Amino acid sequence: MQLEKLLHSQGFGTRKECRALVRNGWLEINGQVVEDPFLDVNPEGFRYTVDDEPFVYREKAYLMLHKPSDYECSQKPKHHRSIYTLLPDYLQNREVQCVGRLDEDTTGLILITDDGHFIHRMSSPKHKVPKVYEVTAKHPLDQSQIEQLLAGVMLHDDNELVVADRCELVSEQVLLLTLTQGKYHQVKRMLAAVGNRVERLKRVAIGQLALPAKLEPGEWCWLEDEDLVKLGMKQA
Ligand code: URA
Repeated sequence: MQLEKLLHSQGFGTRKECRALVRNGWLEINGQVVEDPFLDVNPEGFRYTVDDEPFVYREKAYLMLHKPSDYECSQKPKHHRSIYTLLPDYLQNREVQCVGRLDEDTTGLILITDDGHFIHRMSSPKHKVPKVYEVTAKHPLDQSQIEQLLAGVMLHDDNELVVADRCELVSEQVLLLTLTQGKYHQVKRMLAAVGNRVERLKRVAIGQLALPAKLEPGEWCWLEDEDLVKLGMKQA
């Protein structure tokens, strides 16, 4: 693949902008400036730097973000900033989208990609991908509330029972709740249905993939092969 085309595919701008980027000496391969935008390279595992920042070619972009509170999962947010402003331009140019949404006051793990198949696979009800939420409740949680959540509760304005797959009490007011459905405000509505209320909500895992402790709110990182295995998107 020609360098100009490769850089364009990775979100570095239009073909013309990528050509100029190379001609202006911003691109290095193996520590050497390369100024020919039409140089043919094998994209598989191709490593390069742009303005001294190292990159490897990725046919599709898969990443995780630690969503902070007071950000919206929308390209056109209404009250807060968009989570997409937390990403560098080259990812925004790839028109990445998040897999499902978290409320503006919910924090934690969110997956982002430019692969429509991945979005469908991770969000389709058929695949029942478990999502684990750390719920801080306003009132102490009792055994009867846990039993109701596990047995299934009827949400206000809904006619279908929603069930928690797992419910693990961490402390009097903190619960790890695992869901495989994805209804609007589901956790908040489930807690309301058992007479409690969500004070704080954080998504801590999707499938076998846990939010890494070192990923601070507002930070993102690429999903590596082992992460895609944990999400059931790649063979081990
Ligand atoms: N359930 C909610 O109520 N809010 C979220 O952000 C995610 C799940």
